Amino acid sequence: MEGPVVPVESRPVGACAQKTIHVDDGGHPGHEAPPLTPLPQRISIVSRHCGGGKGVQFRCACRIILGGVIELAVSAFDLDALRVLLNSVGFAHICHLSKEFDYLSELARLGPLVGQFDGAVVRDVRPDPAVGNSTYSPSNTRELLAHTEWFEFPGLPPRFVALWSVRTATGSGGETTLADAYPFIDGLPAELRSTLLSRRYSWGPSVGLAKVGIDYRTKHQLLERVRGELVIRFPCDDRCLDYDDDMNRFIELGRAYFAEHSTAVRILEDSMLIWDNWRVLHARTAFADTNRHLKRVLIADYPTRDSKE
Ligand SMILES: [Fe+2]
Repeated sequence: MEGPVVPVESRPVGACAQKTIHVDDGGHPGHEAPPLTPLPQRISIVSRHCGGGKGVQFRCACRIILGGVIELAVSAFDLDALRVLLNSVGFAHICHLSKEFDYLSELARLGPLVGQFDGAVVRDVRPDPAVGNSTYSPSNTRELLAHTEWFEFPGLPPRFVALWSVRTATGSGGETTLADAYPFIDGLPAELRSTLLSRRYSWGPSVGLAKVGIDYRTKHQLLERVRGELVIRFPCDDRCLDYDDDMNRFIELGRAYFAEHSTAVRILEDSMLIWDNWRVLHARTAFADTNRHLKRVLIADYPTRDSKE
């Protein structure tokens, strides 16, 4: 079945101008759950950051609802379709996962699962009563600013981050916001981009991590080319040990870009959000429901055609 081009509509969330992608297949408009049997269809993705607005097309058993892809009551990924999304718009929102969906096994098909700072493969992201909102931390209910994961840690940042919901926050807030930052990097002044590609900054653990015994020193650039791809490290604060005017300018410009271009996703209890952490900035809106509970997995890079050869 040949599907129509997906229209893009503006939808304000918070201070950001958001983009919502709807598919109109004539049978299941908006967010209404369709029958459980997935029907292969052609889907077009329209994005300002994807092919100059012309979109990409692929064939899969899935349906786009919100800024990415929705699969229909599936118990396994359509891995090819997922990679098309991650390679084009940078993230995928997968909805209506079945109760049998095996998160870890399915995510491991995308790449090796890697330990988090404490070595755990799965991290619980939920408010900790011991961590007040005066601390900048995912373990409370405050807003988190745009960043990439693992920007301050030694080694290559994880290629993908996956978040799914055990309990979605009731009331307003608690959305994950994302923006593909490759157009932002393309638009940087050449001199600043060149500096960020070459200057190696010194990093150490945050005060919070130091308190739990995490200690290291490392050095790396904010922009790095790895196997022909650009890795963006975008800090959410000034914790860098040699923070300077160039890093400050990079962060300020990136935050302005994020405010204009980010998309907000509320991760429901049968859905999962996956993004390419090398190119996508993410953040979180503040929320009030202290029962909000997400789980997070980090995934290393998958082999590229070059690295296979
Ligand atoms: Fe994060």
